[in-house]
Amino acid sequence: MEKTALKETRPHVILLATGGTIAGSADTSTRAGYAAGQVTVEDLVAAVPEIKDIAHISSEQLASVGSQDMTFTILIDLAKRINTRLENNAVSGVVVTHGTDTLEETAYFLNLTVKSRKPVVLTGAMRPATAVSADGPLNLYNATAVAADPEAADRGTLVVMNDRIHGAHSLSKSNTTSVETFLSPLNGLIGTINYGSTRYFRRPFRRHTYLSEFSVDGVDLLPRVDIIYACIDMPADLIDSSVTNGAKGIVIAGDGNGNMNAAALTRAAAAAKTGVVVVRSSRVPTGRVGRNVEIDDDHHGFVASDELNPAKARILLMLALLKDKSIDDIQQLCYDY
Ligand code: SIN
Repeated sequence: MEKTALKETRPHVILLATGGTIAGSADTSTRAGYAAGQVTVEDLVAAVPEIKDIAHISSEQLASVGSQDMTFTILIDLAKRINTRLENNAVSGVVVTHGTDTLEETAYFLNLTVKSRKPVVLTGAMRPATAVSADGPLNLYNATAVAADPEAADRGTLVVMNDRIHGAHSLSKSNTTSVETFLSPLNGLIGTINYGSTRYFRRPFRRHTYLSEFSVDGVDLLPRVDIIYACIDMPADLIDSSVTNGAKGIVIAGDGNGNMNAAALTRAAAAAKTGVVVVRSSRVPTGRVGRNVEIDDDHHGFVASDELNPAKARILLMLALLKDKSIDDIQQLCYDY
């Protein structure tokens, strides 16, 4: 008898794996020590057969790194690949599996460089795949449900972890080991998800994805931007060292409202005079860094990061430095993105 092919009705979701603890493996199920990025994308999918109920999955292994070893070479490739895959009308969304250590940086980078309204959802795990009560399988299931959900479109790059849906601009990692590590303290969650059932609260307040002016087309390399952490008796020569080593921008992870000691202020102002872009962010986990509060940004030619933490301010500045932007323009970017 002639066989007729069944018509595919499930949304098509592309799963791009980069490594991390979600693909981590330990010797025993209760060991704290483990190696990230050991489990292949095929095994990740095989561990959660239920995701095939919600989507038709195509998987690709892009990298197998702990996210402390993520590079801009991989990220540029990731953004280009997502853009290509999402041009296909048959594809509903993308899931990226990633280590949690630098996940917020990758989410924000993609939020600025993906050119699509379709959902791009990052997920990871705090416990390796071999652990008792591993969190990766449910995170992957929920991330796939969001990527397959038309309601998730137009909300920028999302992060799904521990039943929460975060926006890339807002979230940050807050705990070294807890499964409830990602928080969005300033602007709140985009939504929640419970075993694949979604609830959305808001859309992103800032420009993102298809509304972003940034692009990785034709880009292979990004300008160097360093982050320098302010503290008591902060050694100001760190700023000179960055400039000498070729930094085109410096983000100060400042005390409080983006402050630094007098010695660092002098060296940062000197760097700014030579054309290095100095952005003041904060080492404090939440709150905005405002212009001209304790430091005269207008006088020194600095930028205030507004809501961007140092790691995200660095990503924005690296992309901004690909273009010919004034200090005023870069300040505006911090408000817009
Ligand atoms: C990593 O970021 O790759 C390791 C930590 C994690 O994924 O939780």
